Amino acid sequence: MSGKSKKTTAGAGFSGKMGYVLAVAGSAVGLGNIWRFPYLAAKYGGGTFLFTYLVLAITFGFTLIITETALGRKTGKSPIGAFKALGAKKLMFGGWINAIVPMLIVPYYCVIGGWVLKYLFAFAGSNAVSLQEDTYFNNFVSKTGEPIFWLLVFAVAVFVVIIMGVEKGIERVSKILMPLLVVMAIGIAVYSVTRPGAMEGVKYYLIPDFSKFSIHTVVAAMGQMFYSLSIGMGVLFTYGSYMKKDIDMESSIRQVEIVDCIIAFLAGLMIIPAVFAFAGGNPETLQAGPSLMFITMPKVFLSMPMGRIIGMVFFILVFSAALTSAVSLMESGVATFVDTTKWSRKKSSVVMLGIILLLGIPSSLGFGVWSFIKPIGGSILDFFDFITNSIMMPLAAICTIILVWKVCGFNTVVEEVESSSKFKEKKIYLFIAKYLVLIFLCVILISSILQAFGFMKI
Ligand code: TRP
Repeated sequence: MSGKSKKTTAGAGFSGKMGYVLAVAGSAVGLGNIWRFPYLAAKYGGGTFLFTYLVLAITFGFTLIITETALGRKTGKSPIGAFKALGAKKLMFGGWINAIVPMLIVPYYCVIGGWVLKYLFAFAGSNAVSLQEDTYFNNFVSKTGEPIFWLLVFAVAVFVVIIMGVEKGIERVSKILMPLLVVMAIGIAVYSVTRPGAMEGVKYYLIPDFSKFSIHTVVAAMGQMFYSLSIGMGVLFTYGSYMKKDIDMESSIRQVEIVDCIIAFLAGLMIIPAVFAFAGGNPETLQAGPSLMFITMPKVFLSMPMGRIIGMVFFILVFSAALTSAVSLMESGVATFVDTTKWSRKKSSVVMLGIILLLGIPSSLGFGVWSFIKPIGGSILDFFDFITNSIMMPLAAICTIILVWKVCGFNTVVEEVESSSKFKEKKIYLFIAKYLVLIFLCVILISSILQAFGFMKI
């Protein structure tokens, strides 16, 4: 790859627009789309959530991605460096939050990655039919050793990719597998929605019912927007710093957003109607949370001809999407250590692996022997998920916006976008960035904090 050499370690510049879009989409599309989006949509009112999510992604999501990417490209640095270069001073802690979030996400990401691996192998094994039993998932996650074993396998795979410096190779593989995942998701979605009883689910998923709308819907959709589009955690600065100056930033970002939303949408269409067809729309299943995909998808596959093979292929594709995202999350942590300490890349990677195990193992145990520990009312994994997506990422985004507003000015962003192409939605961008984002993020942050302290239910 050609391009300027940058201070951060993750790689060199992207050679073209296509390269940029594919690399960012590869890191953005992951468990957030396939595992997290459907369970939130199921839980928070189906169509109501879908609608809220899309509106947020198009407005606030777009604004925040443009801002982070432009600051990254302008300074050529990852968040801490970018904050410093722009003269953040008192706001420096904003750069730090951006840098710390990936370190808190990747441990629990690896827990889920481990579950995916377990299901992949279970589909290949002789006892695959038992996967459709309602108790299978809970029996598995509540064990002590087995989920930790799979967490370890997943985490070591990520570690090996990073240590061997084969991210580019993995990215190339994932570029082939991602379209396959889309094709397969379309096929499964068609199968799901044509099952008897599934139409109720399609309606639930597609038609907003605003009597179900509440501030919880917005908080959840906002957290998901940050998570799925990788906003508020520094990676977009870093990717921006690799983006060549002549690439059309606005349209690249649109494309990444579209790919990300389509995959999430398809995942919802695969899973939610299936809940209605296979569990009779049992309201409890809709509330299943993190377990939803694992409970529902085996029932779908095992009702198909050749279902075991299809299930296995599905979990291989989910694994590959999860692996590229986890590599890029861990890479971001490693880059932060390399840039801010005197540690070598190897040492930084070992420290990151240590952090993954230190925080990942408790998250895993939280479904079993440590299930009595309920910080803010949910499992330990829910806790990490909540403080990162609903508190730290909005906070990081608030700092970024204040930085632009008070220190470098919105023109810095506009000029950077315009340096390569016309900024078609400049007016909308400026309006949202100047007048809406801060107020909105503060309202979200306050209500998240109220939720966390039990004044509101999560
Ligand atoms: N967006 C990823 C997903 O949907 C998860 C993620 C969050 C991520 N932050 C990231 C991936 C940073 C790579 C880099 O699964």
